[in-house]
Amino acid sequence: MAVAGRFLLRSFSHSSSTATSTLQEIASNNHKGTAKVVLKKGKTQIFREGSPMVYSGAVDRIIGRPPPKTGDIVLVADGTEKPIGWGLYNSVSMFCVRIMQLEEEAIGDPLCALNMEKLVERRIDAAVKLRKNLGLPSKNTNTYRLVNSEGDRLSGLIIDIFGDVAVIASSAAWVEKYKPQIEGCIGRLDAITNICWRRSTEILKEEGIDLSNLVEVQPSASTESVKVVENGISYVISLEGQKTGFYADQRENRQFIRNISEGQRVLDMCCYTGGFALNAASGNATSVTGVDSSSPALELANQNIALNHLDTRRISFLKQDATLFMKDALSRNELWDIVIMDPPKLAPRKKVLQSAAGMYRNLNLLAMKLTKRGGLLMTCSCSGAMTQSGKFLSVLQGAASMSGRKITVIRQAGAACDHPIDPAYPEGAYLTNILLRVL
Ligand SMILES: C[S@@+](CC[C@H](N)C(=O)[O-])C[C@H]1O[C@@H](n2cnc3c(N)ncnc32)[C@H](O)[C@@H]1O
Repeated sequence: MAVAGRFLLRSFSHSSSTATSTLQEIASNNHKGTAKVVLKKGKTQIFREGSPMVYSGAVDRIIGRPPPKTGDIVLVADGTEKPIGWGLYNSVSMFCVRIMQLEEEAIGDPLCALNMEKLVERRIDAAVKLRKNLGLPSKNTNTYRLVNSEGDRLSGLIIDIFGDVAVIASSAAWVEKYKPQIEGCIGRLDAITNICWRRSTEILKEEGIDLSNLVEVQPSASTESVKVVENGISYVISLEGQKTGFYADQRENRQFIRNISEGQRVLDMCCYTGGFALNAASGNATSVTGVDSSSPALELANQNIALNHLDTRRISFLKQDATLFMKDALSRNELWDIVIMDPPKLAPRKKVLQSAAGMYRNLNLLAMKLTKRGGLLMTCSCSGAMTQSGKFLSVLQGAASMSGRKITVIRQAGAACDHPIDPAYPEGAYLTNILLRVL
């Protein structure tokens, strides 16, 4: 199979004037002096299959004088020193290379081979095209994720669009190095007039970036907050708010809540700026309560009620700790037809998964008790460690047993379709959204 594939690629590439048959030849002809990161024997397959993050434990040796520096382009080679792809080197991170193209891709697109400027352009163009094909932006939605890191083959780069503002979230040294090229690509998009940067400072420190050298582009006064529309509902977004400012990942799940809210009493726990609650109210819920512990988020949530001309007798937001609110509500024997539980990331690392599982269980136990028999609970985990462990459902079953309720699974979802995931990098999957019937 491999031989036949190579033969086809050779025949194809011979028809072009830039025909080249191996990545090694491309490097030797046009990129002399490119260093080579040689993998340990037996450690190559996972990267051949597309995993982009080469951890230092997989590296046997580095060939190159002078040795590569952080941000440099390097070849990644198997134990026999034959290149399998190329990527961006980092001398301090536990991820020594982020692979950008495998050999076959580089041969198929020699213009981008070992050329990060061109590759960034190509991948961002592809991300824009994919969103267009998915109907984004549209008349009803002008906030969405344009680039989703590994899912768009640009590991470490996230770009969220809020109307005419692009928020670039950087968590990789290469993103800082190629900032002008990234901004150039985004600046060419007709709809975008402002670009803001949000940096994951802790991760960038681990990437070896000296943060004192970075000129932080703060949103200008006119762009500190922006108005956007999602599924026809308007929001004010603070560009200094949580995440990049808005949780675009729940768009399709919010729409689902809107579709089932008619005539229902709805409770939105950990509501942030009101996404689920506003959808429930727009879907003609009889009463909607949103609860969150963040004052800035609730200030925006209240502005969003007015922005959408919703009746404050039917929708309100309350600042309180989720557990305290639920315990108080239980003591008042309050019940809701639909409860949404979307807490913050409780397991930021695998190490704390067990203690986080206890927190998820306790929150869901209370949420189930507040759900009418036969009612619905939409419950979420945005912890990658929990989602990837596959244990969330059993945590929910544990909560059901402890609360004396029976649950069945109605719907299982993740982030919206503008958050693609590369199956070769399952660590990209973080959001689980499960709809339960609670008996
Ligand atoms: C994942 S976000 C929710 C996103 C929201 N559902 C949306 O659609 O935009 C988690 C929210 O939990 C809130 N939060 C964190 N700790 C909390 C607590 N102890 N009690 C209530 N809310 C809390 C945060 O302020 C944040 O708004």
